[in-house]
Amino acid sequence: MSSRNSHSVLDLQSLTREQVGRIFSIADGYAGSDVSRLATKGCGKTGALLFFEASTRTRLSFETACARLGVHPLRLDGKAGTSLEKGETLEDTVLNVAAMNPDFLVIRCGDDLDLAALSSQVSMPILNAGWGKKGHPTQALLDAYTVRKYLGTCEKQKILIVGDVRHSRVAASHFELAKVLGYEVALCGPAEFLPEKPSVPVFSSLQEGLSWATVAMALRVQLERHETSYSLKDYRAAYGFTVENLKKLSAKALIMHPGPINQGTEMDSEVLQDPRCKVLPQVTSGVLIRQALIQLNCLEETL
Ligand code: CP
Repeated sequence: MSSRNSHSVLDLQSLTREQVGRIFSIADGYAGSDVSRLATKGCGKTGALLFFEASTRTRLSFETACARLGVHPLRLDGKAGTSLEKGETLEDTVLNVAAMNPDFLVIRCGDDLDLAALSSQVSMPILNAGWGKKGHPTQALLDAYTVRKYLGTCEKQKILIVGDVRHSRVAASHFELAKVLGYEVALCGPAEFLPEKPSVPVFSSLQEGLSWATVAMALRVQLERHETSYSLKDYRAAYGFTVENLKKLSAKALIMHPGPINQGTEMDSEVLQDPRCKVLPQVTSGVLIRQALIQLNCLEETL
């Protein structure tokens, strides 16, 4: 699944539709069986979960996936208490953890770490748990799995991604996965939030985009990454997922957000109660997808 280490998951470009189908059917098995409970016995494997950037959903879902599979997790959460505080580099940290021979590495990091180069230096698979602006493949997979669960298939769905696409690794991974699974992606948002040269259609009006979409996905406004300030009030009025703005979205469509949500900016709290809203089911899917990826790529090594 990656050019450097055949069992690593750094991006989704080289995946086939059949491979994604296999991940989804393993996840289905975990959803519907007792295996989804915590394993009572360890499987004798270890996975190092290295989170150099903040995370709630991804970190804890990988940890839950490890617990359900009987994998012992080795955790590194941020710099505090590690030798990063003494000036050790991120790369050296990863190589030192890899020298302890865990069965796989799960890494969340910024663009300053080259996961592709690291994957050719270590012997175990690396699972990308959110890598700078490059990609968040497990998030796109869990989103697609959620779409398939509620709409029956991903093929030919029309996913409108609204908001801060320019800084979004989630959007980057959806551009890749859309080609694999055959769904359409379009964008909507203020010009300064969109890619300078979008590779997919852009709707200038949220209402037009919502009329087109079978899935409406809001992204977190990453104000910490913008150089110019932007009025959050104006953003909410034009692009926010408010009860009023979502009236144009079909009753059968899904409302999604990868989280964390800035409530009252890109999504109002009332929208979380909308029956079309699948934000929490996305999180549940995340555990199943990560369980399936660990099982296939890190334990069985057969994907
Ligand atoms: N969606 C997502 O990656 O959330 P976290 O940053 O909380 O892991």
